Amino acid sequence: PKTAPKSPLTLYLAAPRGFCAGVDRAIKIVEMAIDKWGAPVYVRHEIVHNKFVVDGLKKLGAIFVEELDEAPTDRPVIFSAHGVPKAIPAEAERREMVFVDATCPLVSKVHIEAERHSENGLQMVMIGHAGHPETIGTMGQLPDGEVLLVEKPSDVADLDVRDPEKLAFITQTTLSVDDTIEVVAALKERFPTIVGPHKEDICYATTNRQAAVKAIASNIDALLVIGAPNSSNSKRLVEVGSANGCAYSQLVQRAGDIDWRALDGIRSVGITAGASAPEVLVNEVIDAFKSRFDVTVELVETAQENVEFKVPRILRVPA
Ligand code: F3S
Repeated sequence: PKTAPKSPLTLYLAAPRGFCAGVDRAIKIVEMAIDKWGAPVYVRHEIVHNKFVVDGLKKLGAIFVEELDEAPTDRPVIFSAHGVPKAIPAEAERREMVFVDATCPLVSKVHIEAERHSENGLQMVMIGHAGHPETIGTMGQLPDGEVLLVEKPSDVADLDVRDPEKLAFITQTTLSVDDTIEVVAALKERFPTIVGPHKEDICYATTNRQAAVKAIASNIDALLVIGAPNSSNSKRLVEVGSANGCAYSQLVQRAGDIDWRALDGIRSVGITAGASAPEVLVNEVIDAFKSRFDVTVELVETAQENVEFKVPRILRVPA
């Protein structure tokens, strides 16, 4: 019997998508540490929020732990790209451990901002998601209780500040650009003299990935974001799709997660990937579509990226 012809489908492939410079560097740090010191090398928290990446590094000899005291003192330990509270490297030093900090330089920049404002006598407000490791790490640059957290505009009214004239704000690097504008507006309305960064602290990778989704969102029947359920920037991409006119947006870790029934009858799909999702998983998703539809791929590129970060010096010198 003849099989029914596949129905036509256009895949709009957003660019930029996937790995950012900070993720690329963090993965390299783990690989180079294993090369330098041999296995096992310990990593505190998922180096980047992607199971596929983490599993690959486990195979090379990385051991992932949540807290520093789960790692022995005689093996090197790496801190994840999201950043860590000041107490963590201090503890590693106290335990006389070899450690490498894989905090993204763009997150470290926010840490430095927070410290500088605090030294100048300003109390810090952080716009971020409660419980996310980056938020915990950034707030942990200053003593407990020094940084106040807001997640949404309505949180601003509840802020209990020391002096409304002496405030500065910082943000998580992976927030929704559009939602953050609203939180900043609420802060400035209540505290007109609050000091902030020029363009929030949202990083280039987050900004570019969201802009690329915006460019395709109103033309597609569905958006698939390849990324992990705990990846902040990936979740924001799903929201950007929905907020900009795409009727159906789904986060998938890989092709096996695609809900084909929900995609029944569609003619166009947008594909993007969070900053910690490797391109192999994008290709896997494209192949899954090709096996079911007669696919035409269209690349929609809204920016080009050429950012690259050096690995820490300790990994650039021989053992
Ligand atoms: Fe850094 Fe932005 Fe990636 S802060 S880790 S470049 S998502």
